[in-house]
Amino acid sequence: MKAVSELLTPGTRRRGVPLDVARIREDFPILKQQVCGRPLVYLDNAATSQKPRQVIEAISRFYSEDYSNIHRGVHTLSQRSTLAYEAVRGKVQRLINAAEDREIIFVRGTTEGNNLVAFGYLRPLLQAGDEILISGLEHHSNIVPWQMLCEEKNAHLRVIPINDNGEVLLDAYEKLLTAKTRLVAVTHVSNALGTINPVGQMIELAHRRQVPVLVDGAQAIPHLVVDVKALDCDFYTFSGHKLYGPTGIGVLYGKASLLESMSPFQGGGDMIASVTFEKTTYNKIPHKFEAGTPDIAGVIGLGAAIDYVQAIGIDAISAYEEDLLEYATEKISKIPGVHILGTAREKASVLSFTLEGVHPHDIGTILDQQGIAIRAGHHCAQPVMDRFQVPATARASFAFYNTKEEVDALVNGIRTVMEVFN
Ligand SMILES: Cc1ncc(COP(=O)(O)O)c(C=O)c1O
Repeated sequence: MKAVSELLTPGTRRRGVPLDVARIREDFPILKQQVCGRPLVYLDNAATSQKPRQVIEAISRFYSEDYSNIHRGVHTLSQRSTLAYEAVRGKVQRLINAAEDREIIFVRGTTEGNNLVAFGYLRPLLQAGDEILISGLEHHSNIVPWQMLCEEKNAHLRVIPINDNGEVLLDAYEKLLTAKTRLVAVTHVSNALGTINPVGQMIELAHRRQVPVLVDGAQAIPHLVVDVKALDCDFYTFSGHKLYGPTGIGVLYGKASLLESMSPFQGGGDMIASVTFEKTTYNKIPHKFEAGTPDIAGVIGLGAAIDYVQAIGIDAISAYEEDLLEYATEKISKIPGVHILGTAREKASVLSFTLEGVHPHDIGTILDQQGIAIRAGHHCAQPVMDRFQVPATARASFAFYNTKEEVDALVNGIRTVMEVFN
């Protein structure tokens, strides 16, 4: 097996220089298979990405050699497990450039991170008549928790409109930021359209009014260099499984001062300093928010995934994927009857489209028969579908292990769909 550091052609960790994708693909065992008698073309990376051998082996090694429960054992395995688990907190800190590792809370995923902020941070502060501001591009997991809270507290959910390209309207955003706004929750990259939101600018505008900002980073973390210090966001959430890591693990980043001000979200073991029947005192952050036995192996796998992408270089990944998206957009937009949704100037790795006279589910099914995995549906972003007046789209989403040949296969696949329907 190749060391991760060998995955780049020597001296290529620069923008615009191609990755050695053939060698990278050797690390992903699942990509070697055939589906319906054709080589698998996996283009459903926005839903979840595939796992390199390094991640699979790190989890297996952990269970085979080091596994035990963490934080409360004096024995060797527990200490090893604790060290390995806590080391990943440092890896996440460095990945997103957080100021301190105690600002990293391990959660189940983006959804749980968003809910933790909704119910752990905002619920005690929110009053009747207050407003929460989200964008018209959000995934349901960055809509529903806020809606639940608004219902409970008689508060209002406000939505920043988007234009026909799928970009947020910054003028409208500024006007929606008022003395009533208690939080802005906005996606970094749209999962349905691929739009990269100008989150830095949006955070600055919110902070001028002392409004904190949560950034949903589920679709940004695999594709962009994320720097929470430079962004100055108050909260940032993401999922390990979209970053080539395991399911069941994700991250909530929060500024230490905010996390310290918050009450725990769940009670249980590990989040306490002391317990009597009369009174419990809570542990320090981050442990205050990690009640019970966490997904220890998930954290280990996430650590291996971070090592993997960082060895390649996220800037190199970003540049490669940008090129691939441009190539795919150009090719697919030329197919008669195809309509691309999401034509923002800044986009990452997502190509959403419809084909005249064909339901996206039929596109997905016929492509599957050719070994091509895409997603068809509303992508857990029904308001985006409503905005573009479509029930669903077909969505191809790319990772750094995808190739232009695979894009060509997708183009041929779409042509076959057209033949079936004409
Ligand atoms: C933008 C965005 N936010 C949140 C989520 C939810 O992520 P998870 O299901 O891993 O919690 C997703 C998943 O697709 C997403 O794309």
